[in-house]
Amino acid sequence: MVTTQKQIDLAVSESVEIIRRATEARPEVAVVLGTGTGDFTSFIKHPAVIPFAEIPHFGRTTVEGHPGNLVCGKFEDMEVAVCAGRFHYYEGYSMHEVAYPVRVLSALGAKALVLINAAGGIKRDMQVGDLMILGDYINVMGDSPLRGILTDPPSAKFTPMNRPFDDELTDIAFRSAVRRGFRVHRGTYVAVHGPSYETDAELQFFHVIGGDAVGMSTVPEVIIARHLGMRCMAISVITNLTFGADSVHVSHKQVLETARGSLSALREVFKDILVAI
Ligand code: HPA
Repeated sequence: MVTTQKQIDLAVSESVEIIRRATEARPEVAVVLGTGTGDFTSFIKHPAVIPFAEIPHFGRTTVEGHPGNLVCGKFEDMEVAVCAGRFHYYEGYSMHEVAYPVRVLSALGAKALVLINAAGGIKRDMQVGDLMILGDYINVMGDSPLRGILTDPPSAKFTPMNRPFDDELTDIAFRSAVRRGFRVHRGTYVAVHGPSYETDAELQFFHVIGGDAVGMSTVPEVIIARHLGMRCMAISVITNLTFGADSVHVSHKQVLETARGSLSALREVFKDILVAI
């Protein structure tokens, strides 16, 4: 299906109008929370909570661990907008639909986007519960949220994706995690479409091509954030290992539990990121 820029702009303005009825917030920073990290919103002061179901053109989250609310309010002294829950390609949404909330967050005023996800560790010195600050990604989802979009001008769809993540923000996040004593890596995220987990041969392939962690999200949102000129960074919580004895035990339950355990570390790192924005 082909979608025009005009259709997208109209949809975004309808989404923004409904959000504006619930909150005056002018977020400077936007956050998209991954599996199991939805409780991050408990750190937001004076929250306005808008269910995705009430926002036109938003999908519905269907996966346990993704509450499906937009939460606007203050984190420390900064106005933020947080998507607690995201839509995944594996739920049946198009890449455009998966990344659509980023368009709305940008239209609300957010200049920077922080994405959190759960991922399986590929890098051999990783342990469950580690953080990985994304330095780059490899998209093996086989699709793009800009496919089929008649951008205006047409050439805008050819968004450069070299250095997808903001150097300053990723450096700050990495140094913050080290200083606070968290186990942290800088690495390359491999995005798969899922929903089944990877075969051993696929994991071996991802290791050989330079992948450090694998997950089923984030890349669609990064592409749209860069397309819209937002500063962007992402953090993976390593919820399981894809190598060694632990690799056979991957389950959604373990992914959820480990991700939940990372909330206070994410809060601390996020505080340091905000100071830099
Ligand atoms: N593979 C893909 N996605 C994931 C994984 C994994 O091992 N862990 C958490 N999300």
